[in-house]
Amino acid sequence: MNIAVFVSGNGSNLQALIDAEKSGALGAGRLALVVSDKPKAFALERAKKAGIKTVVLEKTGFKTREEYDRAVIAELESSGIEAIVMAGFLRILSDHFIEKYAGRMLNVHPSLLPSFKGLHGIKDAFDYGVKVTGVTVHFVTKELDAGPVILQGVVPIEAGDTLETLEEKVHKEEHKLYPRAVRLFVEGKLKIEGNKVRILE
Ligand code: GRF
Repeated sequence: MNIAVFVSGNGSNLQALIDAEKSGALGAGRLALVVSDKPKAFALERAKKAGIKTVVLEKTGFKTREEYDRAVIAELESSGIEAIVMAGFLRILSDHFIEKYAGRMLNVHPSLLPSFKGLHGIKDAFDYGVKVTGVTVHFVTKELDAGPVILQGVVPIEAGDTLETLEEKVHKEEHKLYPRAVRLFVEGKLKIEGNKVRILE
């Protein structure tokens, strides 16, 4: 199964997926394309080093979101992409795009959804003072940071934690959970039933 990973930044989740693919942990999943909206994203270096095709589409090159999304779709189709894995991609995609890839697009969010949606999931949980936070992998729907939940991992917040130590723990959990979720998807083991995901064994 040809997978595209969408990135905008560091790409540590992309790296976890690259490592998983190398070790056989993605099953028949093949990382075939990395799409970035930022030419300087470090994720692009990681992709190149792993020999994965990259494409950069900056929003400034397009008049409308629809035009941008059409260009993305053209790239996905020319690489025969069957599934999309969002890994820190900061651009919002059009409803048309999301409908087209419904049930085939995954995202990772650094909190236990539906708590702490948005761009600062880790900091918001830390500042709130919750005792546990974590990671959610979910299917992408039109509503931001919503969509059927695939896997969640819990990260306790301990008395000695700082925002930095918490960030480290949450990212570590993401890197474990995301490849597992992608593999389940590749193997056809995720069944969406309304807003729930049943994991077939
Ligand atoms: C991760 O924390 C992910 O949960 C969020 O964006 C961040 C991306 O980090 N959606 P990286 O670029 O994979 O290192």
